[in-house]
Amino acid sequence: SAARRAYSHGYAGHLPERYAKLYDNYTTVRKVLGLQRLTLAEKILYSHLNNPEETLASYSGNAKDIRGKASLQLKPDRVAMQDASAQMALLQFMSCNLPETAIPASIHCDHLIVGSKGADNDLEAGIATNKEVFDFLQSAGKKYGIEFWPPGAGIIHQTVLENYAAPGLMMLGTDSHTPNAGGLCTIAIGVGGADAVEALVGAPWELKAPKILGVKLEGKLGPWSSPKDVILALAGKLTVRGGTGYILEYFGSGVESLSLTGQSTITNMGAEVGATTSIFPYTEASARYLDATKRRAVKQDAEVFQKYGSSSWNEDSFFKFRADDGAEYDEVITVNLSELEPYINGPFTPDLSTPLSQFASTIKEQEWPEKLSAGLIGSCTNSSYEDMTRAESLVKQAEQAGLKPAADFYITPGSEQIRATLERDGTLQTFAEAGGVILSNACGPCIGQWKRTDGVEKGTSNAILSSYNRNFRGRNDGNLETMNFLASPEVVTAMAYAGSTTFNPTTDSIETPDGKEFYFAPPHGKEGPSTPFDSGNVQLAPEINKPTPNAEVAISPTSERLALLEPFEPFPSSDMSGLRILVKVAGKCTTDTISAAGPWLKYKGHLPNISANTLNTATNAETGTVNEAVDLDGTKMTIPELALKWRESGQPWLVVAEHNYGEGSAREHAALQPRWLGARVVLTKSFARIHETNLKKQGVVPLTFANESDYDRIAAGDEVRTVGLYDMLKNGGDGEVSLVVTKKDGSEVEVKTKHQVTKDQAGFIVAGSALNLLSKGI
Ligand code: F3S
Repeated sequence: SAARRAYSHGYAGHLPERYAKLYDNYTTVRKVLGLQRLTLAEKILYSHLNNPEETLASYSGNAKDIRGKASLQLKPDRVAMQDASAQMALLQFMSCNLPETAIPASIHCDHLIVGSKGADNDLEAGIATNKEVFDFLQSAGKKYGIEFWPPGAGIIHQTVLENYAAPGLMMLGTDSHTPNAGGLCTIAIGVGGADAVEALVGAPWELKAPKILGVKLEGKLGPWSSPKDVILALAGKLTVRGGTGYILEYFGSGVESLSLTGQSTITNMGAEVGATTSIFPYTEASARYLDATKRRAVKQDAEVFQKYGSSSWNEDSFFKFRADDGAEYDEVITVNLSELEPYINGPFTPDLSTPLSQFASTIKEQEWPEKLSAGLIGSCTNSSYEDMTRAESLVKQAEQAGLKPAADFYITPGSEQIRATLERDGTLQTFAEAGGVILSNACGPCIGQWKRTDGVEKGTSNAILSSYNRNFRGRNDGNLETMNFLASPEVVTAMAYAGSTTFNPTTDSIETPDGKEFYFAPPHGKEGPSTPFDSGNVQLAPEINKPTPNAEVAISPTSERLALLEPFEPFPSSDMSGLRILVKVAGKCTTDTISAAGPWLKYKGHLPNISANTLNTATNAETGTVNEAVDLDGTKMTIPELALKWRESGQPWLVVAEHNYGEGSAREHAALQPRWLGARVVLTKSFARIHETNLKKQGVVPLTFANESDYDRIAAGDEVRTVGLYDMLKNGGDGEVSLVVTKKDGSEVEVKTKHQVTKDQAGFIVAGSALNLLSKGI
């Protein structure tokens, strides 16, 4: 067998170092699970278990039962952080007083640069505005040995794909589109800062074992279709919640026909259906991409490991970077690439899918704007060599016909490497000569950092098309009436020439200046450059830091944007009494309601300052007014004002709310801020899962009404005492806790509540926060 050959050639003892741990853990996984068939995602995930034997032992008969049930304690290989979320992650890490991170990590300065006039200008302005944040991140990188990618170096996910993603790796990233690296056979999961810190200090990171949704790709894409259309079509099928609790694993003959970067576009946008992550197997395209990005060693290691990385002498158990033959998925969706037409998704939600052929009629039926104001291509999702050269082929055709884009046209390269390569090969010049604006290698308009200069006023309905991944209201330019339709870079580019949302580039013509009809021929491009990528401007190269324990981290004591964190106080060694209800919230309460973004983003590293937005768009159930709270003496003020007043007077409090409290993005500030202001309990009809976990990590107790009608029996200002909460925290588990509520007239009401707190989570709450516990245990 190959394994015997491996032993006889001495390879088994000389497997690539980067795969040594994976090999050891996989051997244990196989020892426990035998030769049960596993999907690719399971193989990688379970080989990163901290305690594989203990976790998997009870499933030795049926590995499929692990999914959706087991709690996995995982040890990721790497962490990546973007500048906006890295601030709180690093502040939390600093409070653990460790000299360096336990695993490699990187910081990427990409979210804070405003896109407006063009790369050079915007980058300079962005650096000037955010200097203290960048200085802080850079100095923390130096002190703790974290790689630092300066502003202009690129967008986190593109940089990770080009430099860090590797077959079989498991990584966490403090950004929802971290699964972009899944295109290169990496398990990459988006998390909040507190989760990243768990990995950074070397503690295991907990994840409920995901179910596995197999996406079978068949056939080959047609001339106008692209990988983007695969995920746009899937988003329409699955909706924004359809992937929740699942890993999307792609397989089937169609996989081989896709470029590596196309696969990454698809895994990137798995976030849009709520998936934990998405993954593709290792293919020849992966090997070609590793060559082009000058990572031959990674390619060789991965291939040697695939060939000789056996956990026994049984060839069946070799670790191939694909699912075992006969592995079962929880569900399978089949996509026939040959039949897939281009899609356009939106507005306001990424799962509203319309096939291109029906888009013009939908625009008319829905009375959406027919004028296209801007076309934006690139970003972390779609700025590959293939994307850009396919778009370029359309620009060249149109220019030859004497046309110019009728809508504003913006191009965002995902990294300095891709920018420099596209400049070297003439693609960026083609865009610029056509009147396109090349923005800096940063997020810019994708995350609201877009200073529009086309005179579209806030509140005016208008349509833009982008090859980005998200299109919620207000996301791009802060205008709630801007409709962002998501499409492939090719479709965006062609439609920018027409300046119309009703134009179908596969069938319609544009009139040229000399009165002729111009039809686009289908786009064509190249998967990658003919010579390896150009690394670009050396000034934008990363700083590869070794830990320097004596180095200072740059935080001014008078800063308005950064503040060191103080540890939260532990849970008292008894039940709680004297809590007051700060506000009873009516209706939907998302993480955006609890901690708004927009202008508040700049305070992400300053907990006291950002806390001034806490619940500031929540509706008070008793007064019906948004952002109104009533103090015990009847004085009305805003919710964050009253919370701050109670914090200062040492009055602990709780919030009462309705269903799915904390839905939306996994924003950890939505848990940190109430905690800082003095919240000890949040009582709701139900919670969004991730937010509930975040609350526990920050030492806040989430409780749900045993009888929902009790919501009506209690009011803001009521005093609350817990009965049985302390006992519950000593043991963890599911159960009931009573709240004794004293009304303003002195009468008492008993409210029964439920809780679901694991033993680990109970430990976090007792210690005051997960971080308090982690820093104690180190
Ligand atoms: Fe940045 Fe948008 Fe991607 S914010 S990380 S370009 S999703």
